[in-house]
Amino acid sequence: MEKYPGKKNVAVFISGRGSNLKSLIKYSKRNSLIKIILVISNNPDAKGLKYASKSKIKNYGIKFTKNSNFENNSLKLLKKYNIDMLCLAGFMKVLSGNFIKKFSKPILNIHPSLLPKYKGLNTHERAIGNRDSFTGASVHKVTEKLDSGKVILQKKVKISKSDNVRSLKKKVLKIEHEIYPKAIDKFLTNL
Ligand code: GAR
Repeated sequence: MEKYPGKKNVAVFISGRGSNLKSLIKYSKRNSLIKIILVISNNPDAKGLKYASKSKIKNYGIKFTKNSNFENNSLKLLKKYNIDMLCLAGFMKVLSGNFIKKFSKPILNIHPSLLPKYKGLNTHERAIGNRDSFTGASVHKVTEKLDSGKVILQKKVKISKSDNVRSLKKKVLKIEHEIYPKAIDKFLTNL
């Protein structure tokens, strides 16, 4: 399958809106080290899949039901498209150790908190509930342990008194779009 000289073939896994996917596609069209050639969602109705189609990127919706073969089917596609690296962008399922081992190439994820703080869900609710002064976003390597792999890049954002979950989500998302491309650059240039 496709291979672009000097570039890594990248797949992106999403679950919904896909605003991080959009920022990665924009980045990959600039003079970047990657070419996004495959998008997979566990949710066939994910808005991000439509954006992938519009950008002429091969995309698949594979339901993640209890006995579905999401992981096996995805692994076949990752192989078929010669994928060198997988980026999770708002992918809300946990990949098994078996998947990570079988894929055997780097997997990165973006998480809406300053890891190791607030692994898992509802990060903004927890940051506000704990009256934190700062929160942020982190890009990290994916390992078997949820949100625990090595952090590649993170950026802080101030939580002001007037912030609520909605406003904070918006602020953090903005820095997510900024740091995911930078983290990929940093990761690939330090391989
Ligand atoms: C982003 O805030 C991302 O960090 C978060 O979901 C949102 C997806 O937005 N991911 C996680 O919470 C993963 N545990 P998007 O679909 O617009 O990129």
